Amino acid sequence: MDIQWYPGHMTKTKRMMEENMKLVDVVVEVIDARIPYSSKNPYLNELWKRRPRVIALNKSDLADEAVTRAWKAWYEKQGYGVVVLDALHGKGIRDKIAGAAMALCQEKRQREAAKGYQKRAIRMMITGIPNVGKSTVINQVAGRAGAAKTGNKPGVTKGKQWIKVRGDLELLDTPGILWPKFDNPEIGYKIAFIGSIRDEVLDTYTLAVKLLELLQSRYPQALTARYKLAEEDMQGGADALLEKIGKKRGHLRAGGIVDVERTAVLLMDEFRAGKLGRMSLETPEEEEQEDAAQN
Ligand code: G4P
Repeated sequence: MDIQWYPGHMTKTKRMMEENMKLVDVVVEVIDARIPYSSKNPYLNELWKRRPRVIALNKSDLADEAVTRAWKAWYEKQGYGVVVLDALHGKGIRDKIAGAAMALCQEKRQREAAKGYQKRAIRMMITGIPNVGKSTVINQVAGRAGAAKTGNKPGVTKGKQWIKVRGDLELLDTPGILWPKFDNPEIGYKIAFIGSIRDEVLDTYTLAVKLLELLQSRYPQALTARYKLAEEDMQGGADALLEKIGKKRGHLRAGGIVDVERTAVLLMDEFRAGKLGRMSLETPEEEEQEDAAQN
């Protein structure tokens, strides 16, 4: 993850997205199923307006199934085509995405046919913030392993290549990389939890404490089970809890002091790898409440 989003990068990326969008009929935005609100880039709505959009709730293997279903319904209500994916292990990803994309383009095709236009292939591009699984999805849709470049650099243009997905559907071979939302620190943390912002930007200790705070309220049992904690261990603050986890794991320095930095790295790694269980860090109801409070 070597992106730093400076205003210049964003301008370049916007320009590139605008260029690419002229070439495509449908955009697929890959988001992380653990944070389907925070990992979505609102700018895409502005740029793409009501044109056909598919949301791919990826990494669904790491998220809470019931919450993912609620997010699917929420985004469908807003007019998106929605697919739930596990691009790493799942099968049939190409058909899911192709089906959703073609369904959204059906009307346009019929309109074109009625006007007597020649039938042409539908063109699609994949976008999303870093680390949500764009390249993995492209490789699945293209039916090849490790072929999509993970070129995670904003504004890098390469020769455009179209991958034939099905007879009537083509995919741009490079993903459109979008910047994450920065406006709200809570969102910033969530994006960092899933590894879309370089860890060096935020120190791992702070990040781990923030994550623990969230998990203490949302998934306390997952924490007690994984780290063999007692109920009363959960009562104090998250920093004390991190220290207890460190003690349990034997992360001790000379003099018996807990090496909390080491424990912080462990917690982040284990969360990202799904070792704490399937977890969703936000729900549609919470977003609606937040929106209502702001308006
Ligand atoms: P990007 O193009 O959006 O930046 O993401 P990319 O495809 O490179 O995927 C980022 C990481 O997420 C990769 O792990 C990839 O294997 C993993 N990944 C993608 N889709 C899924 C999914 O549906 N479920 C799970 N569990 N993992 C998925 P990596 O190569 O190990 O990278 P990293 O985790 O070390 O960053």
